[in-house]
Amino acid sequence: MSGIKTLGQFIIEKQADFPYAKGELSRLLRDIGIASKIVNREVNKAGLVDILGAAGTMNIQGEGQQKLDVFANTQFISALTSGGECCIVATEEEDDFVKIDSPVSKNAKYIVCIDPLDGSSNIDCNVAVGTIFSIYRRKSTNGKATLQDVLQKGTEQVAAGYVIYGSSTMLVYTTGKGVNGFTLDPSIGEFCLSHPNMKIPPNGNIYSLNEGNYVHFPEGVKKYLKYVQVEDKATNRPYTSRYIGSMVADIHRNLIKGGIYIYPTTARSPKGKLRLLYECNPMAFIVEQAGGIASDGFNRILEIEPTELHQRTAIFIGSEHMVHVAESLMLEFSSERKSESRYISGTEAKLEQMGIVGGID
Ligand code: AHG
Ligand code: MN
Ligand code: MN
Repeated sequence: MSGIKTLGQFIIEKQADFPYAKGELSRLLRDIGIASKIVNREVNKAGLVDILGAAGTMNIQGEGQQKLDVFANTQFISALTSGGECCIVATEEEDDFVKIDSPVSKNAKYIVCIDPLDGSSNIDCNVAVGTIFSIYRRKSTNGKATLQDVLQKGTEQVAAGYVIYGSSTMLVYTTGKGVNGFTLDPSIGEFCLSHPNMKIPPNGNIYSLNEGNYVHFPEGVKKYLKYVQVEDKATNRPYTSRYIGSMVADIHRNLIKGGIYIYPTTARSPKGKLRLLYECNPMAFIVEQAGGIASDGFNRILEIEPTELHQRTAIFIGSEHMVHVAESLMLEFSSERKSESRYISGTEAKLEQMGIVGGID
């Protein structure tokens, strides 16, 4: 098996990075990897079996659930229950968090937040979908874990990852020491290390957002759209627009090629559409670990204090330079939250320095 390193081998090797680790986190990651292979199998045959289409129930956010959402949700919960390392699963698909109370998970210390199937509206047309997960250590030291154990800032994540079910299936994860990507080799049924130490280019020319919501965007985002569309050879503009509608797939592409993904506040979603715990924090941790930036337009996503399970936020995520430009324009033109911005002063000078003041009025 020379030259091939499987996810399982890699996880065990990396355990040495955490001197006091007893292997629990490694087992948890392994459990998620196994569940994702089962979900992958079902996603692959979505066109063949009657698992496709709306399940007829609504999730807490009032969005229609697809059957595969339900399947993936059940699959991850059951893998995490039998694995024994997890005391709570908070999932996008359930109103409340799921307490795991089995004999094997008696002293479990980890909490998993999960979007079991991301981009599920894309399933019935064979477009890439994903799974996003985030792992925290519980804060309380005795009794049952509580909501307060789940409501931790993104900076507290001990690991995060995503699986993309695309033209090939990949699992990408971080434990805070860089980002590594594994491609599923269907012939042996193993995720194999294919993208070691992933880095997002500091700049790029792809922008991804749902421009159909344009009239409802904050002024700063409208200005950024102007900016990306203005011709400027020196900065490779106009940029290219690419939007799949599966956050995992859009961010995965931008991570590899360089780009920015934006889901701002809109009239329909005044607090943003994407969920902090299941989507934004894990993707922010991964992108930061790859050298990029994730912001709500004003501040770091990972520093948002969560107050509720299904909290939403706006997100600007991707290549460092691109997100900085978008944040600067938010600060300049969507000034209602100016005082919260990480840029305390000197915006105009900063915009000029970046060469973005001309041609966008
Ligand atoms: P989910 O399928 O888990 O509900 O997530 C869908 C999310 C995200 O993946 C995607 O980028 C975004 O919603 C698309 O939203 P719009 O259709 O409003 O563009
Ligand atoms: Mn999602
Ligand atoms: Mn989902």
